[in-house]
Amino acid sequence: PDVRPLVAGNWKMNGTRESLTEIKAMAEGVQGALSEKVDALICPPATLLYVATALSTDSPLMIGGQDCHQDASGAHTGDISAEMIADCFGTYVIVGHSERRTDHAETDHLVRAKAQAAHAADLTAIICVGETAGERDAYQTLEVLKRQIFNSVPETATAANTVIAYEPVWAIGTGVTPTADDVEIAHAFMRAELTACLGEEGRRMRILYGGSVKPGNARELMSVENVDGALIGGASLKANDFLAIYRVY
Ligand code: G3H
Repeated sequence: PDVRPLVAGNWKMNGTRESLTEIKAMAEGVQGALSEKVDALICPPATLLYVATALSTDSPLMIGGQDCHQDASGAHTGDISAEMIADCFGTYVIVGHSERRTDHAETDHLVRAKAQAAHAADLTAIICVGETAGERDAYQTLEVLKRQIFNSVPETATAANTVIAYEPVWAIGTGVTPTADDVEIAHAFMRAELTACLGEEGRRMRILYGGSVKPGNARELMSVENVDGALIGGASLKANDFLAIYRVY
């Protein structure tokens, strides 16, 4: 394949200093031949970013943030900038996760501004999209994906600086996943949209699947056409589970 898969973990609001043993085990576990062809990334909470990158300096394991502010700096109490993530030696940042869209009322346009801020700080942006259960039941999935991609992905997005993560909201943390056929349809649609918007860059842009990815279902989900990796929540908290998913490649 000409696309290098990415296995990414999102710790969400989980993880304390104790969890650094998991980061260490992951940093060790991703060393070896597989790292030549598969990328591995963990996005811990911001409080652990700096020490997580310090623990993985000699490892191919990459570290990223879970969100960034759209501005470079300023009076935004409690927020962190893309540059701060880069300053902690993070190389990726997730933007537009459905939990951010819900908890903080983030819009597609704000998500695009955040992706642009990430690019300005030389971070790779993982832009999350996905329909809610209600939208799925109303057969609006593809329409929602089209709108989110069109409005959240900046024109400057390239295959190197941007990753798309498809996360059906109803599959997040529920143990329920779409069928392989449904994933294939959604990813083929996003591939076509990205290619229409961005040409060759869109054709080569990685599209991850996220939502209840576990060691037991990862092989099936990762083998679907146009699925270029995973964005893993719960199963990324433990090194054993994360590494088991990484090793399906
Ligand atoms: O960012 C990760 C996703 O929201 C998936 O979470 O694997 O716990 O379902 P989950």
